[in-house]
Amino acid sequence: MTAPLPRVAVLASGRGSNLAALLDVRARGELPVDFALVGSDKATAGALRLAEAAGIPTLALDPRSYPDRRAFDLDLFARITASGAEWLVLAGFMRILDGEALAPWVGRMINIHPSLLPKYRGLHTHRRALEAGDREHGASVHFVTAELDGGPVIAQARLAIEAGDDEHQLAQRLLPLEHQLLPAVLRLLTSQRLQWNDHAAQFDGQPLLAPLDLGDHSLLSAE
Ligand code: GAR
Repeated sequence: MTAPLPRVAVLASGRGSNLAALLDVRARGELPVDFALVGSDKATAGALRLAEAAGIPTLALDPRSYPDRRAFDLDLFARITASGAEWLVLAGFMRILDGEALAPWVGRMINIHPSLLPKYRGLHTHRRALEAGDREHGASVHFVTAELDGGPVIAQARLAIEAGDDEHQLAQRLLPLEHQLLPAVLRLLTSQRLQWNDHAAQFDGQPLLAPLDLGDHSLLSAE
């Protein structure tokens, strides 16, 4: 008898290109997981349509129908738990999460963020990198903790900022790197090469002292 696949839920607020990347990599047989649920705070999110097309259960909850953030988040996480998901991916989920509500998921929840964390937590990351005159930009995948975009960084993808780049161009060039980075990290997490131990990330049984680099294929490849 083969072991059941790890069950993963994904939350997304927008078009869902990172979700599409996860689905593509899974379809190629390089991400052995089951997607238990795709949830959103926006009923119109493209990510929900992608999930429906892939036959994945979806959930749209409207934050305006809850008294406060914590009530929304508690209901959201209860439904994710009920889906049977053991792992949770934030793929463009644009809400701040309540610390108490997310606590049971610490170590099992990752987020992709379009900056080289700890630089530029929050919004408008591409613009802020340009305004700062940075020569390099990138994306990070990190464990989610109560601190906004502040949990341990697992892996990063880097790209050079070119003369004349604008916010839109930078975002466009970064996106294909995000699409490699997120599935690679999810694979490490669900295969448990990557673990959460004593409030920190651990990789192959050792403390992860610096983020993995997408450019280092031996670390993030499907092998
Ligand atoms: C991605 O660029 C992701 O890094 C970013 O939202 C975009 C979602 O795109 N996430 C954040 O800014 C989280 N703070 P997508 O819907 O096409 O995957």
